[in-house]
Amino acid sequence: MTQELSYTSEVAKATAPVYDMLKDQFEEEYWETLAPYIYEINRLKKEKNAVILAHNYMTPDIFHGIADIVGDSLALARSASQTDADIIVQCGVHFMAETSKALCMDKKILIPDMKAGCSLAESITAKDVRLLREKHPNVPIITYVNSSAEVKAESDICCTSGNAVKIVNAMKEDTVLMIPDKYLAQYTQGHTDKKVLTWEGSCIVHERFTPEDIKQFRARYEGIQVLAHPECPPEVLAEADYTGSTQQMIEYVEGKKPSRVVLITECSMSDNIAAVHPEMELVRPCQMCPHMKRITLPKILEALQTEQPEVILDSEIAERSRIPIQKMLDLS
Ligand code: 13P
Ligand code: SF4
Repeated sequence: MTQELSYTSEVAKATAPVYDMLKDQFEEEYWETLAPYIYEINRLKKEKNAVILAHNYMTPDIFHGIADIVGDSLALARSASQTDADIIVQCGVHFMAETSKALCMDKKILIPDMKAGCSLAESITAKDVRLLREKHPNVPIITYVNSSAEVKAESDICCTSGNAVKIVNAMKEDTVLMIPDKYLAQYTQGHTDKKVLTWEGSCIVHERFTPEDIKQFRARYEGIQVLAHPECPPEVLAEADYTGSTQQMIEYVEGKKPSRVVLITECSMSDNIAAVHPEMELVRPCQMCPHMKRITLPKILEALQTEQPEVILDSEIAERSRIPIQKMLDLS
C-alpha cells in the first residue's frame, strides 16, 4: 500500500522528543523522511489496539520511536504472553513471531517481513531433532528459542541466552542436549557440572568476532569494558569482561555505567544505548544481522495497514511448541 506521508508541523512536534534523542545518529533531512512513518505507526497502533514488540537489535528509529515493549528474546516472549492487545507486531525475526503466536493463538501476529529468518533456526529441522532423540533417548533436549516452532515442538524445554545456565541446572539428568547453537552450549558447559551435548549451529553475526578484535579494542581504547553475547565463540568470550544476553548487557551498562564500552554483538544495540547515554563512549564494531535489518518503518506501517503478513501456526504445532516455551517461562 503506498501512502502519502509528509513532514507536517504536527509530525515534527509529536516526534521532536525522539529526534532529540537520536539527532546524533540521523541527519535532519533523513529524519524528516522517517518521522511521518513514526507518527502514522503510533497513531494506527492505538486505533487498532496493536502492540509493537521490538528486539534490542532493531534500529533506533524503531526501538525508540514506535516500540511499546523492547527487550531480549526472553523479555519479548514474556510480554507476548501477557499483552491484552488484539494485534502484536513483531519487530524481530520469524522465530520470535512464532513464539508469540504459540503463546497467544487468539491474537493476530504480524511480522513486517516474512523473510526475516535466522541462521540458527535454519540449522536444524524437526526431523533432525527426532533423530537426536533416537540417538540419546534419555537425554533432555533443551532448545534455544532461536529455532522454528516445529523444532520446539520436539523439545523438552526451551531456553534463551539469558537463562540457558539456569535451565540446564534445573534438569534432573546429568547429561543434556542443547540445540542448535554450539557456542551457547559451550558457554553453558563452562557454567554447569552437567555434560552438555550440542549441535553444529551458529549465528552468522556472532561467529564473525575474533579474540584479536577484542585485543585491538583494549590496545586502542584504554580502560574499555568488553561485553559479549554467549553466541560468540569461546575464545572471544574468554577475552570479555562480561557475557550476557542483549538485555543483560543493557542492565550491566545501566548498573556499572562504564565510561567506555564495546558490545560484541549486533550493531544496533550500541546505537540504542548511545541514544540514552550520550555521556558514554560506545565503540561500535558493526556486525549487522541481515535478517533483523529487513524490518523497517515503511514495512511496519504497511503491516499495520494491511494486517499482513500474518504468522499462522498449525494448531497442533502451536500446542506442542507452547509446552517447552511455557516450561521455560515458568522456570525463569
Ligand atoms: P537475546 O536478545 O535473547 O540475547 O538474543 C540475541 C539474538 O541473537 C536474537 O536473535
Ligand atoms: Fe539469528 Fe544471529 Fe540474526 Fe540473532 S543475530 S537473528 S541469532 S542470525
